[in-house]
Amino acid sequence: MIIAIDGPAASGKSTSARLLADELDFLYLDTGAMYRCIALSVTENKVDIYNQLSLESFIGDFNLELHTVDGISDFLINGASVSEKIRTNAVSKKVSEISAIPMIRKYMVKMQREFAKNNNCVVEGRDIGTVVFPQAEIKFFITASVEVRAKRRQLELQNIGDKIALKDLQDDIRARDRYDSERAHSPLKKAFDAIEIDTTEITIDEQVRYMIKNVKLNNK
Ligand code: DC
Repeated sequence: MIIAIDGPAASGKSTSARLLADELDFLYLDTGAMYRCIALSVTENKVDIYNQLSLESFIGDFNLELHTVDGISDFLINGASVSEKIRTNAVSKKVSEISAIPMIRKYMVKMQREFAKNNNCVVEGRDIGTVVFPQAEIKFFITASVEVRAKRRQLELQNIGDKIALKDLQDDIRARDRYDSERAHSPLKKAFDAIEIDTTEITIDEQVRYMIKNVKLNNK
């Protein structure tokens, strides 16, 4: 069974997806983290993403692994953990542009489908219910106001020692929303059959309870 969770940046997808997977004993796949990994690697290796041959050769050598221990996911590039590095604001600023490249998306979607094959899985991202798993048994689309999302992102960044002004984060989130929703390939969009949840004024606990209730109703 696949539970697809889509929505804009910092809307509370990851926290609820992780808790939902934990509660239901499902695997958890954060596809945004996968795009962050490739964005980090492309940047560190100064790959020209608009040069077909350079990008092809980079993707051919790119080695991304996901290790999950006690429900905690760790992403490794060429054997080295990058789970903390991919959360910095520098990566957030680059990832939308890089994830809009069709060759990168094709590679990622293939990996995501492989990962979930024959597994019960909660998968979160931007195009999960529309493109990666349109057949998902249940789909959620999570939203929240820009102000609340920026505040949540600020707290996350504080935890890894990145101090960014709220106003800058609001601007970054607006820019990312625009980029993710307006790109030509697999834009962020609510699937017609997704359940929409606005998390601006609800707690994470309320959000997860509501999601579990819907999963159970769907399973009857
Ligand atoms: O959820 P996140 O903020 O960690 O995602 C990082 C970026 O990755 C986001 O700006 C758009 C991209 N992304 C995507 O294009 N498709 C997905 N399925 C997941 C993320």
